Amino acid sequence: MSATIKPVTGARFSRIHGVGGYRPTRVIPNSEVLNWIDSSDEWIRTRSGIAERRWAGPEESVAEMSVQAAGKAIAMAGISPEQIGGVIVATVSHLKQTPAIATEIAQRLGCGTAPAFDISAACAGFGYGLSLADGMVRGGSAGYVLVIGVERLSDLTDVTDRSTAFIFGDGAGAAVVGPSETPGIGKVVWGSDGSQAEVISQTQAWDTAFAKPDAVNGTGEEVRWPALRMEGQTVFRWAVYDMAKVAEQALEAAGITADQLGAFIPHQANMRIIDAMVKKLDLPPSVPVARDIAETGNTSAASIPLAMERMLERGEAKSGDLALIIGFGAGLVYAAAVVTLP
Ligand SMILES: CC(C)(COP(=O)(O)OP(=O)(O)OC[C@H]1O[C@@H](n2cnc3c(N)ncnc32)[C@H](O)[C@@H]1OP(=O)(O)O)[C@@H](O)C(=O)NCCC(=O)NCCS
Repeated sequence: MSATIKPVTGARFSRIHGVGGYRPTRVIPNSEVLNWIDSSDEWIRTRSGIAERRWAGPEESVAEMSVQAAGKAIAMAGISPEQIGGVIVATVSHLKQTPAIATEIAQRLGCGTAPAFDISAACAGFGYGLSLADGMVRGGSAGYVLVIGVERLSDLTDVTDRSTAFIFGDGAGAAVVGPSETPGIGKVVWGSDGSQAEVISQTQAWDTAFAKPDAVNGTGEEVRWPALRMEGQTVFRWAVYDMAKVAEQALEAAGITADQLGAFIPHQANMRIIDAMVKKLDLPPSVPVARDIAETGNTSAASIPLAMERMLERGEAKSGDLALIIGFGAGLVYAAAVVTLP
């Protein structure tokens, strides 16, 4: 008889046990953005809903912000860092390709030899990480998994670009996912559409940028630090029409109706996108909606856990409530799920 491999069993269900965030100290009000681009406070507020954003200083590195946010999430979960069996860091703005920043973060937190890796799924990064963490906990490869969304988008912002200079912010958000007696994370509805890869992307690859020998290459084109560029209107339409459907699928997969939600926490991309989604989903006015973008800007992978922490902190939503989360962005990629708030 051939030998059989010992089966691996995990927890029956998983949930988020703790959430934490870190917001950089430097606040950039719209008035400061007006030093860089021809715009107005009123235009930025009405078109994006953003009044201010936070930009990280030299000490507020991707690792430092992550450690701060994760420390809060671990404390809220009531576990010790050694109990973490996996560290997933979602980011598109850690500028050193190798090694993954997750290993340094895991080491600084005291997570022992936990597997640690980075994922690149832009504004859907937190949802992608959550899906992986849920699978790891239920599949038996980890007891508790730390999911961190962290960005220093200021490093990839061209302050002269009128369509993006006012949008992005920096910060970190983290969640601890672990075993649960009852289902605490609904089916994650996630996906991608590579045919729209160019809609939000870095202006040029690092090799192209560095291939230019000096300030001016052969074509007379000036060497510029790669930054994020975006086809605003295409993203807007995709977010409003296609993403509302994904949010509906996540509700359906969880067997939840909109009126049973205690919170709607969409990616903080743009207040008008949030408002349009609320309308399309026919969310009852009783469901509180995360509107952290006004003070935080668009922090990509960090935006959902940052907004979640803030809603809990301010009492806009409470522990045990069901929240619909949805992230979407460069890739294009998306991820939505119904979760029980920690
Ligand atoms: C970026 C965004 C706010 C721009 O708004 P928009 O209405 O699409 O802007 P447009 O580029 O069509 O420009 C409309 C007008 O505003 C002007 N404009 C553009 N940027 C401006 C700025 N920063 N300040 C003032 N005016 C501006 C344009 O010149 C144009 O003027 P015109 O009508 O006289 O030609 C909008 O497209 C958007 O929110 N997109 C989604 C972005 C997003 O959420 N990204 C994150 C995804 S993860």
